[in-house]
Amino acid sequence: MNAAIPAVDFAGVDFKRGERTILGRATFAVEPGEFVGIIGGNGAGKSTLLQLTMGLLAPSRGEIRVFGAPPRATHGTIGYVPQRIELDPDVPLRARDFVALGVDGAKFGIPFPSARRRSLVDAALADVGATPFADKPAGRLSGGEQQRLAIAQAIVGRPKLLLLDEPLANLDLSAAAGIVETTARIARERGITVLLVAHDVNPLVRYMDRVLYLANGRAAIGAVDEIVNEDTLSRLYDRPVDVLRVRGRIIVVAGDA
Ligand SMILES: Nc1ncnc2c1ncn2[C@@H]1O[C@H](COP(=O)(O)OP(=O)(O)OP(=O)(O)O)[C@@H](O)[C@H]1O
Ligand SMILES: [Mg+2]
Repeated sequence: MNAAIPAVDFAGVDFKRGERTILGRATFAVEPGEFVGIIGGNGAGKSTLLQLTMGLLAPSRGEIRVFGAPPRATHGTIGYVPQRIELDPDVPLRARDFVALGVDGAKFGIPFPSARRRSLVDAALADVGATPFADKPAGRLSGGEQQRLAIAQAIVGRPKLLLLDEPLANLDLSAAAGIVETTARIARERGITVLLVAHDVNPLVRYMDRVLYLANGRAAIGAVDEIVNEDTLSRLYDRPVDVLRVRGRIIVVAGDA
């Protein structure tokens, strides 16, 4: 009964740094194939949650499972796009070489034959819309183009779970919308589960299945309307929160503590 096993399962997870609780009793499950947006302010613990999911950090208490296995045993099943990708303008790599870095290593270190490798890279480049600049120097591309390459590098090894840490930061509205739309399409076509970290819920609303909201060491998961409302967010933040809807956009105003 594989379908019953969540892609990501946090059960009563505490994570502390020193005395500070970053996550307290976080309990949620993400189903295979779901697209979940992780929303929270600076320092809310969004990147920490991704690192726990990858097994780079261990919980102080509770249990994490990725497709039923401990995170450390998930070699090759997770693709990751870190926060702040920065390519040196002079890095001597073409876009396609940068993407190819994601091929090996993902699969137990057994190198792919070059024809197979090339077809994986071409498919990933096409999926993110990077074919037109595949042979340009990666470091000379725009922020939005580099973000597409980073996603291609993360999916080229055919992961089952894709973790994206603020892929929309520093992008204008239309580039951000393009990245979200592209990610959602790839996830659907390749059957990948996605956790995408963002500050703002708006670019994700049309595409995500559920939102995981982090505040105050607490996590709440659900449909956007279930979570992004004054009751739920005021409880999560432990103080009055206003949720305004202006011209189809959702604006969250959390008062001072
Ligand atoms: N290596 C570290 N050592 C000590 N504290 C850390 C470390 N990394 C993060 N923190 C602290 O843990 C908390 C959560 O950090 P995290 O990076 O997960 O937040 P975030 O939600 O991703 O924030 P941002 O939106 O700024 O990226 C922050 O208060 C941060 O200062
Ligand atoms: Mg972060």
